[in-house]
Amino acid sequence: MKSDQLRTPKHLLGLEYITSDDFFKIINNSLALAEISSRDIKKTPALRGKTIINFFCEPSTRTRTSFEIAGKWLSADTINVTAADSSFKKGESFVDTIKTLQAMHPDAIVVRHQDGGIPNLMAKHLKNVAILNAGDGTHEHPTQALLDCVSLIQHYGLGVDGLRNKTIAIVGDVLHSRVVRSNLWAHYLLGNKVKLVGPSTLVPKEFEQITPGNVSVHHDLKSGVEGADIVMCLRLQLERQNNFFIPNAQEYTNQYFVSRKLLNQYANSNYVVMHPGPINRGIEVETDLIDSNSSLVESQISAGLAVRMACLIRSCIGEETIAS
Ligand code: NCD
Repeated sequence: MKSDQLRTPKHLLGLEYITSDDFFKIINNSLALAEISSRDIKKTPALRGKTIINFFCEPSTRTRTSFEIAGKWLSADTINVTAADSSFKKGESFVDTIKTLQAMHPDAIVVRHQDGGIPNLMAKHLKNVAILNAGDGTHEHPTQALLDCVSLIQHYGLGVDGLRNKTIAIVGDVLHSRVVRSNLWAHYLLGNKVKLVGPSTLVPKEFEQITPGNVSVHHDLKSGVEGADIVMCLRLQLERQNNFFIPNAQEYTNQYFVSRKLLNQYANSNYVVMHPGPINRGIEVETDLIDSNSSLVESQISAGLAVRMACLIRSCIGEETIAS
């Protein structure tokens, strides 16, 4: 048996399941790997000879491209499979499809799926392959929360400690957001206060119980963003909603639109604005604000490359090793 077949695969199924030590190692390795994007030749041999399958069953621009570029910068062989061009279309079962992928000896499979729990199911059924969750239903999106943290740490410029004792307001469609659930675990590990803001149908009180003690729910926008250092806007996920959550998008905008005027009045000075994308401009957030110097949107996308490199290294060869 090859030695790497004896290794227990190091999955990344969600931030709920990783230790604090592991979380901070990924963050620190991401901060170290970020400089690769400014090199003339963006290539290191860290994952040479490794094979990574990006298995995306839901639309994605940022996450899929970012995982693919990260794998290529690390010299891995990366292959993209989407639901639309896989044998799903011919009626193959999900389990047969993933067993087919496994039989090609990938070192890691990055998966995005519309159903929560699919990465956990794959980790249970597949052997010798690390599973990385690139967003599963409304469950988790661990690399998104990690990149949110890395871009904030880069912004504050004081290392990990620069992202402690902060208040983060997350505004919008919390109920359908996997980004929120992963961020709740991240900010729990960092010891930050999270204010979840939106209509009661989209921000249920039960969200205060997901992580112990750091979360409060607010249905009034002004009190929700009051005292926030960081304001993260979420997309209204209309594809996951039926008609029962909000009367219509305009009604939502009337009550929960995040504007510069609002934040200047209620948030802390030096506030920053974030959005995981894709953005519904003019519905959840003001265009001028999201394009302003207070916005971290572009830096979030860049940080994603470093985070995905760190996560792929962790899963394919162990988190102790970082590229040179
Ligand atoms: C998010 C996702 O897919 O969960 N986007 C992303 O990965 N950057 C958020 C969303 O779709 O609104």
